Amino acid sequence: MILVLLGPPGSGKGTQAKRFAAARGWPQLSTGDMLRSAIAAGTQLGLEAKSYMDKGALVPDAVVIGLIGERVQMPDCANGVILDGFPRTIPQAEALDRLLQAQGKAVGRAVLFEIPDELLVSRLSGRRTCTKCGSMFHVESARPKQDGVCDSCGSALVQRDDDRPEVIRKRLEVYHKQTAPLADFYHAQGKLRSIDANRSPEEVERQLSGTLQ
Ligand code: AP5
Repeated sequence: MILVLLGPPGSGKGTQAKRFAAARGWPQLSTGDMLRSAIAAGTQLGLEAKSYMDKGALVPDAVVIGLIGERVQMPDCANGVILDGFPRTIPQAEALDRLLQAQGKAVGRAVLFEIPDELLVSRLSGRRTCTKCGSMFHVESARPKQDGVCDSCGSALVQRDDDRPEVIRKRLEVYHKQTAPLADFYHAQGKLRSIDANRSPEEVERQLSGTLQ
């Protein structure tokens, strides 16, 4: 099963993708995480990506299609994959369909995380992420045991550069313009399901599992 998670920034895609990956043993492919790894490694691709991400804009389609295209062909993707943050534009979705078709596969389900924009600014501005293992926390709703320290591995927690309020607003604008049309794209293929993302993480996880029944 190839599962696509769609939704605005902060709607909880990454949180749920990690839970789902742990429960099912499928890899979570997050283009955002891949790009942040490239930035941390100081590669040319990372440098280019950072100039878009810091402004809240999307990285060019060809860059992310190249990243995902190589990754979905790896052996650990044979049984199932969770795509978190990809595709994000119609050309990316079309490229994904072509890529999968060449391997005799197809997207099985696209799940849209629905949540009002006004809730997302506080979710994102309070997010803190572990520099080492990627575990996520929130300064109010999911506090670490010790401020600034990851519960899982003891490393430092940081705020993402694009989680500043002015960049968050730009990311939301970009989402509505460039990514939201993917709901119609997958609806037309009969693959779209929607869930209420303004619930507890446990309830969202139950809804997400339900979409695969
Ligand atoms: P990316 O890293 O993909 O970010 P995003 O899609 O904007 O999503 P986020 O990671 O911000 O949010 P999320 O929905 O995963 O929520 P999370 O679970 O973390 O992309 C970053 C940038 O990279 C893009 O802007 C773009 O520049 C570039 N990029 C990436 N992919 C690309 C592509 N395909 N094409 C072009 N460019 C691309 O949760 C957020 C917070 O809420 C956390 O603090 C969490 O603890 C909390 N939370 C989660 N669930 C709940 C809940 N149920 N209730 C209360 N709080 C919750």
